[in-house]
This record gives sequence, structure tokens and C-alpha cells, in this order.
Amino acid sequence: MNSKFAVILAAGQGTRMKSKLYKVLHNVCGKPMVQHVIDQISQLGVSKTVTVIGHGADYVKSHIDGNTEFAIQEKQLGTAHAVIQASEILANLEGTTLVVCGDTPLLTKETLEKLIGQHETVGAKATILTAIADNPTGYGRIIRDSNGNVERIVEHKDASPDELLVNEINTGTYCFDNKQLFNYLSNVTNNNAQGEYYLPDVIEILKENDYIVSAYQVSDFNETIGVNDRVALAQAEEIMRKRINNKHMLNGVTFIDSNSTYISSDASIGSDTLIYPGTVIQGKTKIGSNCTIGPNTEIKDSDIDDNTTIKMSVVHDSKIGEGVNIGPFSHIRPNSKISDDVRIGNFVEIKKSEIGKKSKVSHLSYIGDSEIGKDVNVGCGAITVNYDGQNKYKTVIQDNAFVGCNVNLIAPVIVGEGAFVAAGSTITKDVPDKALSIARAKQVDKEKFMDRKNRN
Ligand code: UD1
Ligand code: MG
Repeated sequence: MNSKFAVILAAGQGTRMKSKLYKVLHNVCGKPMVQHVIDQISQLGVSKTVTVIGHGADYVKSHIDGNTEFAIQEKQLGTAHAVIQASEILANLEGTTLVVCGDTPLLTKETLEKLIGQHETVGAKATILTAIADNPTGYGRIIRDSNGNVERIVEHKDASPDELLVNEINTGTYCFDNKQLFNYLSNVTNNNAQGEYYLPDVIEILKENDYIVSAYQVSDFNETIGVNDRVALAQAEEIMRKRINNKHMLNGVTFIDSNSTYISSDASIGSDTLIYPGTVIQGKTKIGSNCTIGPNTEIKDSDIDDNTTIKMSVVHDSKIGEGVNIGPFSHIRPNSKISDDVRIGNFVEIKKSEIGKKSKVSHLSYIGDSEIGKDVNVGCGAITVNYDGQNKYKTVIQDNAFVGCNVNLIAPVIVGEGAFVAAGSTITKDVPDKALSIARAKQVDKEKFMDRKNRN
């Protein structure tokens, strides 16, 4: 089998985005466009991927994750010039090279496989991925001869009025014979409306040298949208959202309103989970089966086990067990571990803490840097006082302890197993196992005080 390589073009600033952020880093469903491209390509058995970066190279590089080498394009002189930057890594290799623009986030690995398949079957030196566009404005047009064979690609800005009527467009994705690509790239000139070295010009050059050039037309134009401005970005977001949500629905997840449910492409959700509107699931979140999520809930990079309910709450970078009940209005902050059958209720914030099985923190609490055992009850308004303005300290509440309402636990402190802390206490010392601890001012009753007061 032929070796496969890939070049991803990501050096442009993306002027039409009118943004300080480099174009290929704009997110679609929570992931940078170029990352979508890299993630699809990484499933194709490609032995070398080169991402060409330029504008904000270091920044772009640090926001890309995956198996790619980088080549720098100092000046953005056009897409052909961008590919030339990969020649040090690729030029001497035998094989097939896929070139994909970093601004086409909707391309799927299935389409790329078909493109490579056709390229190899036909024995072409170049195969262009094309599509029929309702509105081809801005795209390069595919110009075919009277036999229907591809002759060349003309950019929108260079096209004649007749050529502008062509609605078959260049998606910016191609397969090339690697050696021929790097042979002929240097023949491309910048004698065109934009004064740029156009990669599509390689097609005409290969034709002139009597090589076979083919085109593979994808049936769904939407897959090939090139995002050049925020209008296209919003379109891409909507298409990707539908694609992701449909996948989950077909896997047995119920969405009350798919149009207002936002799920990252890397999230997984078990069957019979029910998702209410306003739910945003980000990053590599894993949700189990038979959960109820939302409405208005944000979950990021977290693991949620089966049969758990999370309503109107925020959960980040945490692990939530089975049969847990969270919300409404809870905030589970990073590095928390909530065990099975726990209840976290209204207006409760948990930070970097572990909560043991069947424990309850039902109302108005702050639990930070804590370790809470099994079957613990934390009363309404009880908080851990974990910060003295300089350092953070740990609170431990052992199994079966009961912490009454409005208790301050001044860390570092341990509440022993089965201990009972009376409501309103400010606890500054460890509480022994099974002790009752009361740390509050005694009640004073001044008899008939109000009668005397009212006489004056
Ligand atoms: C390009 C194609 C056009 C096609 C369209 C599909 C050319 C000349 N035109 O146009 O035929 O229909 O994509 O979306 O190729 N880039 C670099 N270095 C450069 C210039 C661009 O790395 O010097 C990168 C950009 O970051 C971007 C990609 O190449 O990711 C495409 O560039 P862009 O300016 O978006 O080209 P289009 O005008 O969309
Ligand atoms: Mg583009």
C-alpha cells in the first residue's frame, strides 16, 4: 500500500474574520477548526502530517493537539507557497499527499477516504475534492473541458463572467502524488488578481504535462464549507451541532430541543439519557446511561456515571458517581470527586473535594479542599473556611458525621467519625469521634425586657 502524508494549511491570519484570534483557532462546537481537521486526518493511517503555520505560529502551535509536525510560512504568499514550506519534511518521499485547508472543519474522514480511494484507483497525479454550491461566491471554480475532464481551477477573483456561473467549486482539499506535487509547486506563479501563489494552479500545470487529474465530487456541500467569515462560522457551528446531536439521538439519547443543546464532538453519552434545553457539554465529557441533564447546565471535561441527575448547574473537570443528584444551582469546580448516591443541592459550591457515598450537602454550602466521608450530612449554610488569605487548608469530615446548619469549619480541621457539630458552631479544633461539639455563644434571655423598653 502507498504511504500517505498530509499537509494542513493554517498560516493565514483570516482577515475576513475581523478578529484578533487566528482564523483556524476559532472554535466550532468548542474545538478549533484546525483541530477538527487534524482529528479526522489522524484516523486515516497517515504516516506524516505537516501543519503549515505562520500568523501567530507559536500561539497556534500551542493550541493544537495531536500527531503533527509543523512548518513555518513566514509570509503568507498563497496556498502553493504554504505547501512548499513542507518540502523539507516531505519532498523526497514516495506516496500520496492529502492537502487540506485548516478552515474546513466539517470534512469527514469518510469523504477523505473516498477521495484517496478514487485518486489511487484512477492512477491520478492529482484529485480534487469538489462540491456543487448553491452560492459559489468566493470559492475557486472547477473548469472542465467538453468531455467533462477537469482542466483547471479558477479563483473567484480571477474568473470571467462565464466562469463565475459555474457552481462546481474547489473545496480546498486535494490528493497529490507527493513527488509530482513538490516537483511542480515551484512552477506556480503569482500572476493573478491577488498576487498570490495559488495551489490550485498545480492542477493546470499537471494537465499541461499530460498527467491524469481527476475530481471526486462530494454529495453534501455542507461538509466542505470553508470558513472565511463569521457568517460561515455560524453555519459551520449549526451543521456540526446537528451532526453531533443526530449521532447521539441515533445512539439512544433523548433531546427535548436539539437546537438549544450544545455538545462537543469529543463527548460521549450513554443511551436513555435525557437532555433538556440549554445544556452545554464541553471537551471530553463522558456521560453514562439513564442520566437526566439540564435544563441550563454546563458540563466540561467531566465523567458522569449512570442514573445521575444534574439540573441547572455547572460541573467542570470532575468525576461524578452513579445515582447522584446535583442542583438546581450547584457549582462543582475542578478536581472534585462525588461518589455514588450523593446529593448536592441548591446554591452549593464544591471545589477540589471528595464527597463519600450517600452523603448530603443539600443547601447553601461551600466545600473547598475537603475530604468528606460516607453518610455525612452537611447542614444548610455550613461552610469550610479553607483560606487565610495566603494558604489553603484541608477539612476532613469522617464517615457518619453530622454538621449542623451555619457551621464554620476553620481548616485545617478534622470532624471525627460519627461526631455531631451543633448548628451555628465555629469549629477551630479537631472534633473527636462521636463527640457532640458546640462552639457558639450561649443564649441569654433577659426576661420581660421588651415590656420595659416599650414603657419609655
Ligand atoms: C481557497 C482556494 C479556493 C477554494 C477555497 C475553499 C486557493 C488559492 N484558493 O480559497 O480555490 O475554493 O479555499 O475553501 O487556494 N493559507 C496559508 N498560507 C497562505 C494562504 C492561505 O497557510 O499563504 C491557509 C489559510 O490559513 C487557510 C487556507 O490556507 O486555512 C485557505 O486559505 P484562504 O485564504 O481561506 O483561501 P480561500 O480564499 O478560502
Ligand atoms: Mg478559506
